Amino acid sequence: MSTSKTLRFLRQPDDIIAAATLLKAGELIAFPTETVYGLGADARQGDAVASIYATKGRPSFNPLIVHVADVERAKRYVTWTAQADVLAREFWPGPLTMVLPLCDSHGLSGLVTAGLPTLAVRVPAHPAARALLDAFDGPLAAPSANPSGKISPTRADHVLAGLDGKIAGVLDDGACGVGVESTIISLASDTPTLLRAGGLPAESIETALGTQLARPDAGDKITAPGMLTSHYAPGATVRLNATTAEAGEIHLGFGDIAGDLSLSPSGDLSEAAANLFDHLHRLDATGKPIAVAPIPASGLGAAINDRLTRAAAPRP
Ligand code: TXA
Ligand code: MG
Repeated sequence: MSTSKTLRFLRQPDDIIAAATLLKAGELIAFPTETVYGLGADARQGDAVASIYATKGRPSFNPLIVHVADVERAKRYVTWTAQADVLAREFWPGPLTMVLPLCDSHGLSGLVTAGLPTLAVRVPAHPAARALLDAFDGPLAAPSANPSGKISPTRADHVLAGLDGKIAGVLDDGACGVGVESTIISLASDTPTLLRAGGLPAESIETALGTQLARPDAGDKITAPGMLTSHYAPGATVRLNATTAEAGEIHLGFGDIAGDLSLSPSGDLSEAAANLFDHLHRLDATGKPIAVAPIPASGLGAAINDRLTRAAAPRP
């Protein structure tokens, strides 16, 4: 539902209750998670979920992640498995999303899954997200709180830059610590599959499961539509693996390559992930084409390179 002014809430009891009350009334509230800010709506209210799609301009086939307060609540919506149990014990709350078969009488709006027989579910770790989930006491559908295809938000101001006046409120609790979206794995078939690299390195999941994750080939049909090739796109063009900037470009550095602004002068991948979207927002504001220094591929580097590759992809 569109509103004339977006309220800014802080992580304090009265504000959390006010935000939860708006969610119960079917309004949209953006809130911080440890990965990025999410655009939350009651996952059981079809109208509320529909307004997420409308507000983001999101393609209707792209399903949403449902956020819940704990493992027990997750089990209300999906068919639980032994592998899910291992991963939930080890990594929840945290930046891991699991895709599992929807169970009967889940009570969620069909728009959440965009008609799929599976559900993406996660338990966020951020104290503001947890406080909101406790007060709301239900499942929150939440994509990243940015217009579809644009850079994801890691600060309340990023949210407002894209969605001010279009959502009821934003819960502002500063910058997100992880900075890239959750890692998504599917446990809906016999083979655990990595659908999206993210804030939890795939290697950590493989160690916990004692098995390799399958990785869909580029040519496969889209199973996590966030895998659309062009995504996270700034207004200007993006050029990757740039050790130096060309005339007119602004340079995003890493490690020994200082650039105009560095993701991490010390070459730390966690710091780089936390800075990624904020720095892209800042460089985008200059209007110049963006050159990006090479980033190693291992650990969190997989998620960072994935987002950068999409930011650099030809636009539809
Ligand atoms: O860190 C995150 O995951 C953030 C915060 C807000 O939690 N959320 C987020 O949501 O990144 P979103 O909507 O931007 O990305 C969700 C991804 C999409 O690529 C979507 O296609 C995929 O999850 N997805 C959702 N449900 C799915 C399902 N049932 N099967 C496969 N992929 C699914
Ligand atoms: Mg997104």
